[in-house]
Amino acid sequence: MRVKYLGRKGELTNVLRSLKNLSLAERKKTGLEANALKKALENLFDEKIKKLQTRNYKLETRKLDITHPGTKIHRGHFHPLTKVEENVRRIFASMNFSVVDGPEVETEHYNFDALNIPANHPARDMWDTFWLRQNEVKSQKSKVKSSDRLLMRTHTSPVQIRYMESHNPPFQIIVPGRVFRYEAIDAGHEINFHQLEGLMVGPNINLSNFKFVVEEFFKKFFSAKGGSALGGKGEKVQFRYRPSYFPFVEPGLEVDIKFKNKSLEVMGAGMVHRKVFEAVRYNPNTMRGFAFGMGLDRLAMIKYSIPDIRLFYSGDLRFIKQF
Ligand code: DAH
Repeated sequence: MRVKYLGRKGELTNVLRSLKNLSLAERKKTGLEANALKKALENLFDEKIKKLQTRNYKLETRKLDITHPGTKIHRGHFHPLTKVEENVRRIFASMNFSVVDGPEVETEHYNFDALNIPANHPARDMWDTFWLRQNEVKSQKSKVKSSDRLLMRTHTSPVQIRYMESHNPPFQIIVPGRVFRYEAIDAGHEINFHQLEGLMVGPNINLSNFKFVVEEFFKKFFSAKGGSALGGKGEKVQFRYRPSYFPFVEPGLEVDIKFKNKSLEVMGAGMVHRKVFEAVRYNPNTMRGFAFGMGLDRLAMIKYSIPDIRLFYSGDLRFIKQF
């Protein structure tokens, strides 16, 4: 109000400024009135401002509005990927799987060689690898065996080898973990993401054991509390098994699940290759096992209908707060 009438471009200020254009008589009359008005207004504004600033006025006018929505209390909570991982761990634990960990910085031996992916094998093209610069420094000083070269693990499969080296069958494990790939980033690809590896080994393990475990897992996962894109409890999940190739399994296969009439690739799997058993000094003639690997980000994207993998790593609270 004050600016509107008394400000530099205020209405009353304009009147006072235009006095000079009037005749002498008019100027006298209008000038007197305008100045009186200005005084009166200034007094009113001063009074009002003083009143607004007193404590009593503030208290008198503050009313309790019991219909006013409360202030929302923000509590911390888990990241959607952590939640999915937790969910997956619980389901496999209920089937007697142990949860195992492995290093994110791996040697070439564990990430590739021991998994039947020797140097210069074309299958290495399946994984775009980050090599550590430390390798160059080391190899100048002394000769590093190529299998000792360090890299960021491109999958969780090396933990299969590490576990088998120090344990005897029968056992069943899962390995959730972060993996890294030197890739162009887009809605479906990140340079780091999360996988879940599974491995079950014993004298009589076969593909129907695998089929049971995997179908049990997916049914539980997509009907778990918290809702899912595949619908609520009791929703049927359809499976399809396709032959595929991974150097560390034979036969190798991929599993698709059906969702909104579209088939989605969700995991690679197969029966553990005898070369892999040989690498950990198991007898490949008496031992059998199945292995599988899947992307946890992918699972979370399907479960919650998330269109872009980059959202998980964006740190954008508007996204994270929705879970
Ligand atoms: N390690 C594979 C990858 O990252 C996924 C995979 C495929 C894991 C088949 C397995 C398997 O254990 O049997 O592409």
